[in-house]
Amino acid sequence: MRIDVHFTPYQTDELVLREKTVVVIDVLRASTTIVTALINGAKEIIPVATVESAVKISGNLFGDVILLGGERNGKMIEGFNLGNSPTEYSAEKVKGKSIIFSSTNGSEAMVRARYARELSVCGFVNVSSVADALREDPRDFTILCAGNNGVLSLEDSVCAGMLVAKVMDDAEFDVELSDGAHVARALFKSFGKGILRMVKSSDHGRYLQEIGMGDDLKICAEIDSMPVLPQMEGNVLKLKRETEKKTAPDLTATA
Ligand code: MLT
Repeated sequence: MRIDVHFTPYQTDELVLREKTVVVIDVLRASTTIVTALINGAKEIIPVATVESAVKISGNLFGDVILLGGERNGKMIEGFNLGNSPTEYSAEKVKGKSIIFSSTNGSEAMVRARYARELSVCGFVNVSSVADALREDPRDFTILCAGNNGVLSLEDSVCAGMLVAKVMDDAEFDVELSDGAHVARALFKSFGKGILRMVKSSDHGRYLQEIGMGDDLKICAEIDSMPVLPQMEGNVLKLKRETEKKTAPDLTATA
């Protein structure tokens, strides 16, 4: 098994990712929000890169089963139903709904990986579920970090390193790491003991605190709190069947 890590979506393109096994990581907050929506019963998430495509796609679907979610600059987009805080994606709001989702970096990374052979979404909240699935069917895979407006983000890189470490833990198969995967693993070794502290001190973590979204950081830093596996089927994200029955933690208690 060879593991590669890209620290921003712009380090690669759709053709390079075609037919690969890809894991997209956007800890703050797209991965966490998508995992929350799906564990709370959303039917599917349709990631799109631009606000224009989100509005266009929603026009072709039935209004009462569709929600528009996402953010620009961390804040809700005008005309959308939901922003990008996991606390907004409660079962009452999302159960049975298709959610068209557009965020600044996370959905860009997911769209870039749309021709992958297999595409999963990972954050700290479901990192072991993603690692278990990769270990069950050992093959080369690429981690695509969403980063922050084209540059590396600490929280995604540390989460990538945690995923690499979990996949490698007592592995009964050979693992080869790219330079990017070595760097991610080293970052995890440095920061892994204080995930919430690291998330709070990251560039985007500090920005979210400045705009009043600081409570989301604790939710996003909670390791394995939502043990499910969102995977792309066609162009929508759904929970892999055997992880469907898990229940979400009470985010109002965490926040
Ligand atoms: C993104 O996709 O850039 C993020 O999820 C931004 C955010 O924190 O809302």
